[in-house]
Amino acid sequence: MSVSAAQKHNRIQLLTAVLMIVMLSSYFAYTSLKNNLPPPPPEAMYRSKDVPTMERVTDLLSYMSLEEKIGQMALVEKNSLRAVEDISAYGLGALLSGFGGRPEDNSPAGWKTMVETFTSAARSSRLGIPILYGIDAIHGHSNIPGATIFPHFIGLGASGDATLVENVARATANELLATGVRWSYSPTYDMPEDIRWGRVYETFSDDPVLVSKLGSAYIRGLQKAQGQRAGTSSQVMVLATPKHYLGAGGMLWDTSSNENFKIDQGLTPEDEAKLREQYLPPFKKAIETGALSVMAGLNSWGDTKIAASSYLITTVLKAELGFKGFVVSDWYGVYEIPGSDYEAAVTAINAGVDVVMLPFDYQDFVRNVRRAVRRGDIPEERINDAVQRILTAKFELGLFDNDTTRDISEIGSPEHRALAREAVAKSLVLLKNDARLLPLRRTTATIRVAGSAADNIGRQTGAWTVEWQGIDGNWLPGATSILAGIKEAAPPGTTVEFDSGAYFPENSPKAAVGIAVVGEAPYAEGWGDTPIPSLTEEDRATIERLRAASEVVVVVLVTGRPLFITNEIKDWDAVVVAWLPGSEGAGVADVLFGKRPFTGKLPLPWPRTTEQLPITGSATADGTNPLFLRYYGLGI
Ligand code: BGC
Repeated sequence: MSVSAAQKHNRIQLLTAVLMIVMLSSYFAYTSLKNNLPPPPPEAMYRSKDVPTMERVTDLLSYMSLEEKIGQMALVEKNSLRAVEDISAYGLGALLSGFGGRPEDNSPAGWKTMVETFTSAARSSRLGIPILYGIDAIHGHSNIPGATIFPHFIGLGASGDATLVENVARATANELLATGVRWSYSPTYDMPEDIRWGRVYETFSDDPVLVSKLGSAYIRGLQKAQGQRAGTSSQVMVLATPKHYLGAGGMLWDTSSNENFKIDQGLTPEDEAKLREQYLPPFKKAIETGALSVMAGLNSWGDTKIAASSYLITTVLKAELGFKGFVVSDWYGVYEIPGSDYEAAVTAINAGVDVVMLPFDYQDFVRNVRRAVRRGDIPEERINDAVQRILTAKFELGLFDNDTTRDISEIGSPEHRALAREAVAKSLVLLKNDARLLPLRRTTATIRVAGSAADNIGRQTGAWTVEWQGIDGNWLPGATSILAGIKEAAPPGTTVEFDSGAYFPENSPKAAVGIAVVGEAPYAEGWGDTPIPSLTEEDRATIERLRAASEVVVVVLVTGRPLFITNEIKDWDAVVVAWLPGSEGAGVADVLFGKRPFTGKLPLPWPRTTEQLPITGSATADGTNPLFLRYYGLGI
């Protein structure tokens, strides 16, 4: 090693040592602050499940140090934990798996063990306050291969069926409970006005009436799922989180604060009358239904990030609507607020954010918030109010009493899969049916199936399935592809031929019917913002080849949103929108073959051209009629 390299090496070693000392001393200073406090007596009132929630909350608050209160407000991505011991050292309130944040053993048992490890770490803290573990169960317990994957919300919206939605949420809750997960970042209350947005499929509809109805059903299903032992304290089984408060879906094209996106994380115009008429009512209903957690979105209202809006959070949501639960910010959302990390945390907490989805640097967060309280930048009453809201939810969940249980064999169970299959069938929308082609006749001699989504479970489940952006391909254990469903449902006398690209032998006779299953590859969030949502060249060519090889062609669209099909639809004999149906592709075949009727309706208008965007209510931007109005759907 040369002299200068050696010097450099020594300097690095010295710097590292200094850094370690600083980190360790601040860590010990922090933990000793709490460790000096005596533990509360074993008979402390908050420990008894016979005491009413509010009294338990007040009692527990009286034992808490400022540091312990701030810790409760932190929501940390589990992979950002420096050590499991930090859960009790910092008194962390909540952890999450950012989507795809799986345990090493990504199985039901692996999840259960992981959550138990974090739970018992929290229990070993001075006050023994349980941790809340959250995930995005937006279409089932979909981080785990082998779980039941229900249709994405847009499909449930098309079903319009509140009982079905409640059942889906209950089944999802039971799969979550089996792994000890008690908090889901769902349902989505966003209302898309522009199909170019990459989150359209996460929404039920753009109609506040339908969103209120189905959203409430979903909250009931999650929160009132069966799981507690008789006579226990759990009032809420899985905590629902209607998101994203407020105005999400109304963002304009090319206004995103994220340079990679176009609409997502964009700007919702500051129009209070519209906000109150369109976006607020579902949240009002959610509160009446018992929602105890609401997520603030990453969009802005005018020039204010939602998490910084004291007016929308404190004045409207908490004071005006009487929301008694807690507001959680979205992923890194607080730090999207202009200013230093210190200033951003002060602004968000003063605006009314109670739980901060950091999700990374909790050490910095607790230091900043403690300093802000000491300097009077955040009133201590604000901290008490936030913690009181968080503890209320934890007591209502019965987390302190550890009394819920489900069996991991429920994950992906035949009952849940049957329910998902029913949901798929009810979500299909029939847009066109020339010559009453559907349901397919039992006498059909040959059916030719083709298309990029026919034998592709990754496309039918879409994103938020094991990976955040989904996986394009055939890989999910226990799932049934649409092709497999068709083969199974076809009558004994019908031959089913498949070629993904529709390259059928040239001189062979035409099939009676061709079914093209085509659509979008998976995407999530702003990565799905796209200027012209439409079929790929490859899909169009496949349909053309299939038409040449069949007497008539049925097009099944596997898609998270309406696609521009204005020019093509005239050439297709029948068109079915299957949305993103999930793991049970057989539900599509059930309807194609008439085992179940077509009952789904479009939950949002289907535009003809980009000039029509955005579409607010039924009014297109250029005043012309969309290709199909909201609630269109042929019933047979
Ligand atoms: C999304 C939220 C989600 C959160 C946690 C964010 O990127 O906007 O909807 O709940 O991540 O995964």
